[in-house]
Amino acid sequence: MRTQVAIIGAGPSGLLLGQLLAKQGIDNVIIERVSGDYVLGRIRAGVLEQGMVDLLREAGVAERMDREGEVHTGVELAFNDKRVRIALDELTGGDTVMVYGQTEVTRDLMDARQEAGLTTVYEASNVQLHDVKTDAPYVTFEKEGEQVRLDCDYIAGCDGFHGVSRKTIPDEIKTEHERVYPFGWLGLLSDTKPCHDELIYCKTDRGFALASMRSPTRSRYYIQVPLTDKVEEWSDDAFWTELKRRLPADVAATMETGPSIEKSIAPLRSFVCEPMQYGNMFLVGDAAHIVPPTGAKGLNLAASDVATLYKIMTRVYKDGDKDCVTQYSEICLRRVWHGERFSWWMTNMMHDFGDVEVNGTDSQTFSRFMESELNFYTDNEQGRRVIAMQYVGLPYEDVK
Ligand code: FAD
Ligand code: DHB
Repeated sequence: MRTQVAIIGAGPSGLLLGQLLAKQGIDNVIIERVSGDYVLGRIRAGVLEQGMVDLLREAGVAERMDREGEVHTGVELAFNDKRVRIALDELTGGDTVMVYGQTEVTRDLMDARQEAGLTTVYEASNVQLHDVKTDAPYVTFEKEGEQVRLDCDYIAGCDGFHGVSRKTIPDEIKTEHERVYPFGWLGLLSDTKPCHDELIYCKTDRGFALASMRSPTRSRYYIQVPLTDKVEEWSDDAFWTELKRRLPADVAATMETGPSIEKSIAPLRSFVCEPMQYGNMFLVGDAAHIVPPTGAKGLNLAASDVATLYKIMTRVYKDGDKDCVTQYSEICLRRVWHGERFSWWMTNMMHDFGDVEVNGTDSQTFSRFMESELNFYTDNEQGRRVIAMQYVGLPYEDVK
């Protein structure tokens, strides 16, 4: 088998990259470890930045998103019996976010890929990358007991945090930065009317909570839980009771509850691998970086990596400019670190760290610092603007 760009992983990064490249006539094959249904079963992000929305439109997969997605012009922060609305559009000169689930983005991309007749190999095992430092890299994998070899010009490692691509960069070349947080998020999806028409991020003495949504009839809620909690220990009733204690009282009093469709616990982590490329192999999305979910940046950072690699590959194949590939990692990392910093800051400000010392500061002092930080940034327009411009997403950088 031969292709121009071999893509490892059929999550949103791999599928979006594949679609954009195909639009430019650049041949690509996606190799995925699990089945398509398994990929669609993972309930993850829900908020898309303007840049990602535009990229989905450019890829020609935005029709359903534009019909069913909800444009949000504001988001709320609730703390100390206060509710502060961050008016995204007013504070940024018109930018907004789109509420449209990662599952739906993935489904639209899968449908478009199938319609275009592009190859995706699902349930491929033992995927390995070879000769990535040369002009003739290749990928091997097993499919239904057969050993397959895929020759290519470039490899896009879109295989998430636990994928194989990052591991092909030798330890002496890469630096991995990591911070693991002492709590997780328990998420619940339900077919209930959202409790409010905008997202509410809540900081309380009982811990963080987030009220989000997928549609006018489907809600997504999260609560901060200790890392030792198991999802089986949380009945739906226990979840709703705890959530109501953390939401603003008037919202909790009128909210609709119902059976869960999905419930899971996600750990929180900040992680960046530098550099994001090795020879002719490029890391994209979660394969290179993870953010804690506060601030909704994970999927959106994946999209900006895709945009950069798409521009570079277009330059390579349309203009014959092979040298531009060296820019990939530095362009991505500048935006990645801004997203990492914002997510880390929001996480610190909005969560309860209990008795855990943070950044060498005892828990009570740290908590006071964060309370002041939250008041300082929300009490004045400049502060709210700083939050808004990051929440809607910083601009994408061009290739030189
Ligand atoms: P992934 O979605 O992880 O896709 C990688 C793909 O590669 C997967 O399909 C995987 O099966 C495949 N793969 C892995 N290994 C191999 C291999 N060896 N060979 C071939 N294929 C392989 N972000 C938010 O903004 N908000 C959220 O609420 C949120 N919640 C999250 C909850 C969880 C549990 C997780 C893990 C992430 C969450 N994220 C959230 C982050 C967001 O979902 C990710 O940033 C996004 O999925 C990144 O897309 P990706 O395509 O880069 O990686
Ligand atoms: C959702 C998840 C987030 O991490 C976030 O910051 C906002 C929304 C969601 O799943 O809807």
